[in-house]
Amino acid sequence: MFRTRPTTRREAGRVATVADPQREEVRRWIDEARRIVVLTGAGISTDSGIPDFRGPQGVWTRNPAAEKAANLQTFLSDPEARRASWRYRLEAPTRSAKPNAGHRALVVLQRRGKLDTLITQNVDGLHQRAGSRKLVELHGNIGRVKCSREDTLVERWEAPAGEVPRCAHCGAPLRPDVVWFEEMLPEHAVAAAEDAVRRCDVLLVVGTSAEVYPAAALPVHAQRSGAIVVEINPNTTALSAAADHVLRGAAGVVLPALVAALD
Ligand code: OAD
Repeated sequence: MFRTRPTTRREAGRVATVADPQREEVRRWIDEARRIVVLTGAGISTDSGIPDFRGPQGVWTRNPAAEKAANLQTFLSDPEARRASWRYRLEAPTRSAKPNAGHRALVVLQRRGKLDTLITQNVDGLHQRAGSRKLVELHGNIGRVKCSREDTLVERWEAPAGEVPRCAHCGAPLRPDVVWFEEMLPEHAVAAAEDAVRRCDVLLVVGTSAEVYPAAALPVHAQRSGAIVVEINPNTTALSAAADHVLRGAAGVVLPALVAALD
């Protein structure tokens, strides 16, 4: 269906506001697509009260030290960093957050057989909670815990208040099952994501700054395989200039509007 790119390819990066009639063109691509894949980032969850990383109120913007500490070496060598990591896990808004209209719109798109694979960089678990299936979590899930030495998932643990729990098997500190800087992404997740974007007609890239690799390379893989890449984001990103189309707006507004327009 999309063996050749639509003529608008020549106008790559053209910006459409939510109310823009050009959205009709994106709606038509989605309507005609046989296999849509979505890549999400922290921006899809900001409407659920979870801050992104690099925005004005972002986790890394407000606390650059936390970004520098988000690696295994700091976690293992610095007891205060370990405690801070666990405090964050226990107090983070992800625990009480609920899926928003953006997450729910993707569930609808999947139930209609339009959305094939949903790839997320988010660790908040909100796509599962919304009911999405065929989900690829590139950066893990903060709801899971694993041994920092053996990498095995741990279901139950005990620790005195304020202490970091340890692995019952080897005694190493337990850690969230998320990918920190300088760590490898789960191989099976990367393989599934690359396979999905190479086989899609349309890749919707939602709420990501597209600055973190290898996730940021997925739109390039998709375009090389002939897919149309549509960015949904209120702000300009590293992807905007290369995207085939850009819908400027919040995911919680643009996604439900697109899905509703398919009716
Ligand atoms: P960033 O914080 O880098 O980017 C968030 C993007 O979401 C920005 O481009 C915002 O403009 C956009 N945004 C904000 N609110 C939005 C909304 N309501 N609707 C749509 N877009 C919105 O977050 P990510 O790109 O997800 O890694 O960051 C990638 C990775 O960097 C994260 O997974 C994390 C971080 O280090 C790990 O934790 C391993």
